[in-house]
Amino acid sequence: MTDPFAPRPEHRFTFGLWTVGNRGRDPFGHETRPALDPVESVHRLAELGAYGVNLHDDDLVPPGSSAGERDQIVAAFRSALDATGLRVPMATTNLFSDPVFADGAFTANDPQVRRYAMHKTLRAIDLGAELGATTYVMWGGREGVECDAAKDVAAALDRYAEAVNVCCAHVREQGLGLRFALEPKPNEPRGDLFLPTVGHALAFIDSLEWPEMVGLNPEFAHETMSGLSFHHAVAQALWAGKLFHIDLNAQRIGKYDQDFRFGSEGHRDAFYTVRLLESSRWDGMRHFDAHAYRTEDADGVWEFARGCMRNYLILADKARRFDEDPEIGEALAAARAELLHLPQVDWTDPAQVAAVRDEVFDLDSLRGRGHGHERLDQLVGELLLGVR
Ligand code: GCO
Ligand code: MN
Ligand code: MN
Repeated sequence: MTDPFAPRPEHRFTFGLWTVGNRGRDPFGHETRPALDPVESVHRLAELGAYGVNLHDDDLVPPGSSAGERDQIVAAFRSALDATGLRVPMATTNLFSDPVFADGAFTANDPQVRRYAMHKTLRAIDLGAELGATTYVMWGGREGVECDAAKDVAAALDRYAEAVNVCCAHVREQGLGLRFALEPKPNEPRGDLFLPTVGHALAFIDSLEWPEMVGLNPEFAHETMSGLSFHHAVAQALWAGKLFHIDLNAQRIGKYDQDFRFGSEGHRDAFYTVRLLESSRWDGMRHFDAHAYRTEDADGVWEFARGCMRNYLILADKARRFDEDPEIGEALAAARAELLHLPQVDWTDPAQVAAVRDEVFDLDSLRGRGHGHERLDQLVGELLLGVR
């Protein structure tokens, strides 16, 4: 029997080089796995059925490489892409590892550091475009602060917007056709990060020179770290036409940024997220920004990658069952779920607004109604637990 949850390229699953290449280092301990050659990652991901691979500039070209070395590395990587058919849909910049960015990159107090961060990003944009990327992720890893006295938040946001505008200007002038996706995160590695949630980032985009070029890359772990619903964040980004990319992984509230295998924690939020992406026919990449547990060797890394993709497909199958299940359909009707789609008042018509003001309601009958959420929620739980 063919495996119904076997990943295939048409599912558009992508991984960062830094995800499968994560070596298990953490603040308390050294690497537990050897370095992985990006060329090998391309081959292994293609064998597993992924669609693409994404990268930071430094993941592919080690910092300090000469121009000749860069070209050689890029050529070898490109041959692996050509041999396997794997794509590079997204690229990004490492603005967090080098100690030069200890006080931030685009929002560092030192103007020279800010200029260097822009320079590094413009070159990384060129590399991404050369490899065919159409989305450029901006995660402000060090854009934040511990000592609030040292940083004027409004000025930092001005400088952040300036840098994003510079990047947009570069893309426009060079005709590179990329769009930018801001990735919010509340904290880690800084005490507090700027643009901590999807809501903050959405509001920031309105202040930019070319807001249409900039959207979001929400991450499951990051919204969950803030105690927020990831699926709500994704829904609002979609509603605003700003879901340009997504970082799927798993996270428990109140913990450090865990970046676990997608679907390993937070099953309900993961289910509602997958259902949303599938039912809205969102055409973006299903990107996993996660890594294997530190306990794993190389085999465990590929089990991890396979698990992310399988869990997505399993949840997509659950979403289809949800939509087809007659009992769930009845429970949805009892909860009046469809009625939320009906607009009530045309606010451009003063008569309709006045009619609402003058309306008389039978509040006792409205108050007395149950909403049927217990039954509906139990059915969803049973579906996810595998007994429906
Ligand atoms: C993190 C972030 C990163 C970014 C990546 C791409 O918390 O470490 O999620 O993994 O997504 O650097 O910009
Ligand atoms: Mn993360
Ligand atoms: Mn991420």
